[in-house]
Amino acid sequence: MKNIVVLVSGGGTNLQALIDAQHRGEIAAGKITCVISSNPNAYALTRAKDNGIETDVIRRRDFEAFDDYDAALTALLQSKNADLVVLAGFMTILGKRVIRAFENRIINIHPALIPSFCGEGYYGLRVHEEALKKGVKVTGATAHFVNEICDGGPIILQKAVDIQNGDTPEILQKRVMEQAEWKILPRAVALFCEDKIIVKDGKTEIIE
Ligand code: GAR
Repeated sequence: MKNIVVLVSGGGTNLQALIDAQHRGEIAAGKITCVISSNPNAYALTRAKDNGIETDVIRRRDFEAFDDYDAALTALLQSKNADLVVLAGFMTILGKRVIRAFENRIINIHPALIPSFCGEGYYGLRVHEEALKKGVKVTGATAHFVNEICDGGPIILQKAVDIQNGDTPEILQKRVMEQAEWKILPRAVALFCEDKIIVKDGKTEIIE
């Protein structure tokens, strides 16, 4: 059984999708054992507590140097015996130390079809604003491993979502979450826990 630690910053709807998938028995080879937030007021923490999951908080601003924050987050994840770390709307950039300590063991959900609308500065609603500004007809979500390039790690799963007339960033964000993020993130986590993701040459192969 793999220990899953989920990192959050906000509302935690992706965390909820993971908890729901776990309750449905869809993540049979893993267990969410801890939720860590970058923000002590994140509603995601309430979702975790309501489901009897241990919580913790680590704030970037409590550390003067980024290196010290990076070391503390690494130590915290190691103290929780994390086999898999999931970034479910985690809004703080990870440092080299934690990425190296958990190589190909950190999964992020990004609300666009990478390599579109990704990289530094592309997070949350901003991603959907840019997609609408560009006028693309299809967007979606990507579950990927985290490496040292922002949103550049091996892609695990992607799902496309149509853009519709009259979409606002908020409407589009909700559709991308419902149709893509809340489906592919739990699936990617389940595949990881079943050792069904092989990483080779910066790409993944899924054993179905
Ligand atoms: C989600 O849309 C997630 O894809 C996005 O933030 C939102 C968090 O919502 N993440 C990023 O933009 C990361 N680059 P949630 O807290 O309700 O899961």
